[in-house]
Amino acid sequence: MRQKVVIANWKMNYDFHETTSFIRNFLKIVFERKINHNKKIIISPSFPFLHISNQILQGTTLNIAAQNIHHKDKGSYTGEVSAYMLKSIGVQNVILGHSERREFFFEKENILLEKIKIALKYNFNIIFCVGESSLERSNNKQFDIVKTQLKETVFHCTSDEVKSFYIAYEPIWAIGTGETATIEQAQTMHEFIRSLFFDKYGKNISDKVSILYGGSINDLNAKNLFSQKDIDGGLVGKSSLELEKLLKIIQS
Ligand code: 13P
Repeated sequence: MRQKVVIANWKMNYDFHETTSFIRNFLKIVFERKINHNKKIIISPSFPFLHISNQILQGTTLNIAAQNIHHKDKGSYTGEVSAYMLKSIGVQNVILGHSERREFFFEKENILLEKIKIALKYNFNIIFCVGESSLERSNNKQFDIVKTQLKETVFHCTSDEVKSFYIAYEPIWAIGTGETATIEQAQTMHEFIRSLFFDKYGKNISDKVSILYGGSINDLNAKNLFSQKDIDGGLVGKSSLELEKLLKIIQS
């Protein structure tokens, strides 16, 4: 059975008080309502709040993730944060290759591969994002794009290393737009991604890799998406900023 995963990507939103009170309330409700969370739940606040978030979550089954790391572990890179640093405060997961990093910070496959290598060196689990733009989809290029994104990054890893990955399919046109991929579009792409893992690493790994969908997931569409055979959970943006919506998505 593949691991079911819900990741709350808070992007550049909550401040210290919002972050800590959300996580405390979230934990309280999960326990009070006895919400069965035998899925992996990962919350991804901004860098300054990772340490306190991790402390609040100590002793629970919930985890945190960083939203990015630099591609070197130390050095003269003013303003950057490394895997080496995050490891020292107990962070074990990182989101890499998010389309917002690709678009606004010009992260290309070669840099992403370096980030992957550094993350693996510090034993991080990596949530690696792939996905096409609306223009690419309208030209029916989505499969080529996703294949190239994986080929030039994740597929440089050994079969042992690749066990540390979750793949998130996030079509760019569905991120923050309210326009979700249809069940069919999402399932078809997830199946395709799994077939690429099969071709590269064989059945054992392709059967086990969790492939998450991201892009305007909400409390109403999550159940349908997650019921697809190749969709193993979600990477959630906007709806993860609302407690009740996030809880409903987890219960889906
Ligand atoms: P939205 O859920 O706001 O569309 O964001 C998706 C996303 O980018 C998660 O990483």
